[in-house]
Amino acid sequence: MHTLRINASVAYDVVIGHGLLAEAGDRLKALLPPCRAAVVSDSNVWPLYGKRVIGSLKSAGFDPIHFTVEAGEASKSMRTLAALLEFLAGERITRSDVLVALGGGVVGDLTGFAAACYLRGVRFIQLPTTVLAIVDSSVGGKTAVNLAAGKNLAGAFHQPSLVIADLDAFATLPRDVAADGMVEALKAGVLRDEALFDRLARNVSPTLSEEDAARCVAIKAEFVAEDEFDRGVRQQLNLGHTLGHAVERLSGFALPHGHAVAIGMALAARGAFARGLTDAETPLRIEAALKNLRLPVSSPYSAQELYEAALTDKKRSGGQVTLVLPRRIGKCELAPLPLEQFSDFIRAALEVRL
Ligand code: GLY
Repeated sequence: MHTLRINASVAYDVVIGHGLLAEAGDRLKALLPPCRAAVVSDSNVWPLYGKRVIGSLKSAGFDPIHFTVEAGEASKSMRTLAALLEFLAGERITRSDVLVALGGGVVGDLTGFAAACYLRGVRFIQLPTTVLAIVDSSVGGKTAVNLAAGKNLAGAFHQPSLVIADLDAFATLPRDVAADGMVEALKAGVLRDEALFDRLARNVSPTLSEEDAARCVAIKAEFVAEDEFDRGVRQQLNLGHTLGHAVERLSGFALPHGHAVAIGMALAARGAFARGLTDAETPLRIEAALKNLRLPVSSPYSAQELYEAALTDKKRSGGQVTLVLPRRIGKCELAPLPLEQFSDFIRAALEVRL
């Protein structure tokens, strides 16, 4: 088992290991006195792990209730948020109580945002069950729902009080969902750890060892401690996301997030090469690692389509877009680009030969 401390404005632990969902109640009890615990989950995860978590909370003295949303990105909406807030109010959840997010990124982001706004802020914990949620979205306090105009456009920074990542949950993940999360793990390697990247790049099955999961979380913890509110270096965690979100949006959200980010990361690396920032080996290694996991690396959309879709993303600020570009595997930098240069960047990334 690994325990990592996240040094944000509110410090908290991320516990990573096996068999941890059954211990969730006892671990929560070490933090707060028994209270009501509103468990939020989705229609895929609840039937698999709901009973285990409720049982663990009950035997530790908590009084659990639960709210289940439809699995999928569509639940990360103002409508579901409103239904969840009404549920909490109807159940008379107070500031002495706790919310528990049991599931992947959608459940974590939705529950975290509900915790940030309900009664102007209540505590919540994360029980991430997907690779993506464990290595990225459950840690760092970014919570949000989507608006019609784009992803994560309404949200808040609200740190969880505890993250319990039970890697046994990987066993029930469909292959594609696991591969989706591996993109965020590879991203951690491209950002800060070449040895991690090389280990993950050899994977042809989307599995993550406890050590590598802990290393990914440790990298995320460094970014969060350095820049909790995303004003500078934390933006590097957006590697692959500007064009990834554009692809996701153009697909009408039919392409899963990680698959879209895989394309975005490959394009960022190709564009960095086209600008002379890195050598051809960088995009080639990134693409080989993604292809090993059967993830897509090329865009089905034109430069103009990508440009227009990317402009709705919140990573645009004023007349510029800030991209994250690799210098080499293990080192990236922020590159603010005026919009005309951004359009050239996309074209070059699509056309460059390696
Ligand atoms: N997922 C990007 C971040 O937490 O900043």
